[in-house]
Amino acid sequence: MIPDSFKQDLLNRVDIVDVVSRYVQLKKGGANYQGLCPFHTEKSPSFTVSPAKQFYHCFGCGAHGNAIGFVMAYGSMGYVDAIKDLAASAGMTVPEIQRSPQENQRRERETDLYAVMEKAMEFFRTHLKDSPKAIGYLKSRGLTGEVAARFRIGYAPDDWQGLKTVFPDYDDKSLAETGLVIDNEAGRRYDRFRDRVMFPIFSQRGSVIGFGGRVMGEGEPKYLNSPETALFEKGRELYGLMQARDAIRTAGRVLVVEGYMDVVALAQYGVGYAVATLGTATTPTHITKLLRLADEIVFCFDGDSAGRKAAWRALEVSLPLAVDHKPMRFLFLPAEDDPDSYVRKHGQEAFERLAREAQTLSGFLMGELRGQADLGTAEGRSKFLTEAKPHLEKITAAGLKLQLVKEVASLAQVSQDEAERLMGLRATGERSYARAAPSRAPAPLITSQEQKLLRCVLAKPSLATGLDPDLLDERLGETAALKAIAGWVEEDPASGEAIIVERAQGSEHEAVVFRAQAAMLDHGPGEESAEPEFRQILLSLSIKRKNEEIETLKREAASRPGLGAELLRRTNELAVLKSQRM
Ligand code: CTP
Ligand code: MN
Repeated sequence: MIPDSFKQDLLNRVDIVDVVSRYVQLKKGGANYQGLCPFHTEKSPSFTVSPAKQFYHCFGCGAHGNAIGFVMAYGSMGYVDAIKDLAASAGMTVPEIQRSPQENQRRERETDLYAVMEKAMEFFRTHLKDSPKAIGYLKSRGLTGEVAARFRIGYAPDDWQGLKTVFPDYDDKSLAETGLVIDNEAGRRYDRFRDRVMFPIFSQRGSVIGFGGRVMGEGEPKYLNSPETALFEKGRELYGLMQARDAIRTAGRVLVVEGYMDVVALAQYGVGYAVATLGTATTPTHITKLLRLADEIVFCFDGDSAGRKAAWRALEVSLPLAVDHKPMRFLFLPAEDDPDSYVRKHGQEAFERLAREAQTLSGFLMGELRGQADLGTAEGRSKFLTEAKPHLEKITAAGLKLQLVKEVASLAQVSQDEAERLMGLRATGERSYARAAPSRAPAPLITSQEQKLLRCVLAKPSLATGLDPDLLDERLGETAALKAIAGWVEEDPASGEAIIVERAQGSEHEAVVFRAQAAMLDHGPGEESAEPEFRQILLSLSIKRKNEEIETLKREAASRPGLGAELLRRTNELAVLKSQRM
């Protein structure tokens, strides 16, 4: 559980315009900003961001939310991850409270494991200084001391129990849990990494979570990696991300390579925005992570057939994640090179030119598909359509999909319409949203008093406690939302609009609250006008209620005499209420 006060601070600290502009091009128009909605396909901008109210709203598809909601929807992230992400970008740390004892224990354990990894890294770094052989190896690979320090490269000494010097309690289970040691069948424990150059792997938050150890010279395996542990999951992590973060932001681009040495060599030659997958194929998690940081991803593969195969796998993973405004490219190096050797031979400029001119995702896909079918024959063209189908189906970016459909149609010598029908893309194609848009309630034609009250309460949440629920129409969603808000304000009287909307997000009240907030874009009460407006609405509701009571009494009075006094009392009350009207 993240405390509300923190969410409030966070929402005060971040500006939704900044957050959204990282991904969507916004233009100022009046008090608000407009852009093309990232949640559905459109040609004219109906996506609006309010800097004053700190929310976004799409008049086209109904997508709506605050900064946290945007990060969740755009990054396909969970609530807590979105808060962490935003907090990190604002330089804040998320406090966590109310954890279960088990959770606390697990966390303490993890903290211990991080400390163990950190200590091991320092041990390896110390030993690098004492090993002319390891220093010589790094030099022979052209690395400067500066770059070795930047990547915290170390050396694991040629010793079966080297770690014993820094972990006197060598039998402690944390050493096995971090994968630093191996227990053999005979019950003997020894260091996993011996006589290897050590590349520490960092999490995005900067903790050591694993190591890759390279043998010097010949020997198998060439790289020995940490096993998957509680801290380290290969499919989620990228080597060099911590060091590359700033360069990725500056360049707007991230380069994904295959090897540790590629990342380090590229950094040494001035290409600081490279990261490497850790001996695994590119995963959706990798891509999602990178799309959050960069405007463009360039996957870099060796020019050999293994490289092309790996590239194809990366393409297949990328298709559903591609977004129209973030191109992905595929860079194939000459067969004899990897990024390390290429940048060494040809330098930064030549390498970056290759990266800029790398084949686009669509170019790569179309090239491969064309290569598999003979477009000179009717059979070949129909095969081409069949092969294209599963790939086009996976694409969710509407613009990209449309372009590819057109291209496929033209190559297959059919119309776009025919291509879509043949490939069965119609049903899902037309309505495919880049990301699922949040649910929306249809906008009602007339604004109920309850809706107006809700707007006032959003503008000034403390008003909610002054509500008389008996006056409200039970059947309306607004009534339920108002009651919920009254409860939230009672719990925390300092709650502002941001925190109220935050609590509504994901709750049963989301749709009505979002709708009320959206309506306030054009005509909503400000904080000062909210209170008098609120009072007037309550007053007119009271009058309405009183009138109803009087009507009922009058009807009953016909059959039951003696209600006259009661009727008179109500009528007087009504007169008092009416006199308060402005
Ligand atoms: N790899 C691995 N285990 C191996 C070999 C490779 O985990 N036995 C992973 C490493 O992450 C390595 C990457 O695959 O960095 C690429 O392997 P390779 O091309 O063989 O090595 P290079 O990166 O070129 O390493 P070097 O330049 O040091 O030879
Ligand atoms: Mn290499």
